[in-house]
Amino acid sequence: MTSLLVTGGAGFIGANFVQYWARNYPGDKIVVLDALTYAGNQASLVPLASHPGFRFVHGDIRDRELVTKLLIDDKLDTIVHFAAESHVDRSILEPDAFIQTNVMGTYDLLETVRKVWLERDAAPSTHRFHHVSTDEVYGTLGPDDDAFTEETPYAPNSPYAASKAASDHLVRAYHHTYGLQVSTSNCSNNYGPYHFPEKLIPLMIVNALTGKPMPVYGDGSNIRDWLYVEDHCRGIDLVIRKGRTGETYNIGGNHERNNISIVREICSLIDRRFEHDSGLSRIYKESPPASGKATDSLISFVKDRPGHDWRYAIDASKIESELGYEPQEDFESGLARTLDWMLANEPWWRAVMDGSYRDWIDTQYETS
Ligand code: NAD
Ligand code: DAU
Repeated sequence: MTSLLVTGGAGFIGANFVQYWARNYPGDKIVVLDALTYAGNQASLVPLASHPGFRFVHGDIRDRELVTKLLIDDKLDTIVHFAAESHVDRSILEPDAFIQTNVMGTYDLLETVRKVWLERDAAPSTHRFHHVSTDEVYGTLGPDDDAFTEETPYAPNSPYAASKAASDHLVRAYHHTYGLQVSTSNCSNNYGPYHFPEKLIPLMIVNALTGKPMPVYGDGSNIRDWLYVEDHCRGIDLVIRKGRTGETYNIGGNHERNNISIVREICSLIDRRFEHDSGLSRIYKESPPASGKATDSLISFVKDRPGHDWRYAIDASKIESELGYEPQEDFESGLARTLDWMLANEPWWRAVMDGSYRDWIDTQYETS
């Protein structure tokens, strides 16, 4: 039996991960530690409420006393570290929290773990600290550049990416210097259920349904490599169970798309849904198709993100060949599943959007 500490388990990927883990390893203990920032939501953990091995702890990864107690009392042998500030636009506007949580928080966690797992008498002989990181640490690519491999030099461009790069280096150093059994995964853009509607895909869906402008930064030509969140969870699972300690694995979807094509695809998906389900026009009266208009009438090109990385692409051949990884969801079906989830879980996204964040960010990215 594995006893997991999942930091940031009330966030988007963390919540998907603990649900995935509970489904696949029902006998394991899962302790979620989450500070419940604006991005953390206990409602995303409701499906685990009656799961016997599950426990939620409201707390901060920087609280060394609390983490020490959890590691000892719950005899935790595996950490999956998701907790972070994750939104690039916020990091540009207010970088402070990114340094505090992503850099200092990861450092606090590593120090606590080192003291408990490596120095305490009763330390478990086998343990694993898995660090969840991003492809953004590698910087940006041109149209003809090769995709990022694990050997690509780090070149982070936003405060978010720089803070994640710093945390990756700390994790590596704790393996090299102290022998902590670590692994790191660097993943591309995720999408799917429980995605906070400040990120491209859920924001576009919510705005389309509620009749608000769909803000595309710059000319919409920027490219990301999209991965359905459950496929990311599957990749992390493989790395934890079978990956070599001290190693880094890139995880990606092999699905590069530019932003404007994604936004247009969301628009036509929504148009088709309204056509086939007349009930939607009664629920989402402000959405263009409710009054016979096309959803893409909401697309609005706005000022570009400062320092906007142009292209990310992942070369996932290492995890594929070493661990047999393969994404299972293709983009079209994953996007349709995501829209289904959003339509079936309106109370979830209405509750997490209090409106003030979008008003604030709109003042920074006024229509060009
Ligand atoms: P998220 O913003 O949705 O969730 C982050 C969670 O961390 C929230 O629940 C928040 O409350 C919690 N948290 C923040 N600060 C904390 C602290 N000091 N102590 C305890 N908990 C704290 O993020 P996400 O999109 O789920 O990303 C999770 C991880 O995956 C991050 O490390 C991110 O860098 C990485 N990642 C994300 C993506 C993506 O596309 N979203 C892709 C690759 C890697
Ligand atoms: O690549 C992995 C990263 O993907 C993760 O590490 C980050 O945590 C995650 O937030 C994500 O970063 P991005 O900046 O790529 O994601 P975001 O959804 O914010 O933006 C995706 C693209 O869409 C990007 O080119 C900016 C653009 N965009 C975004 C928003 C929110 C718009 O054009 N309009 C928008 O309103």
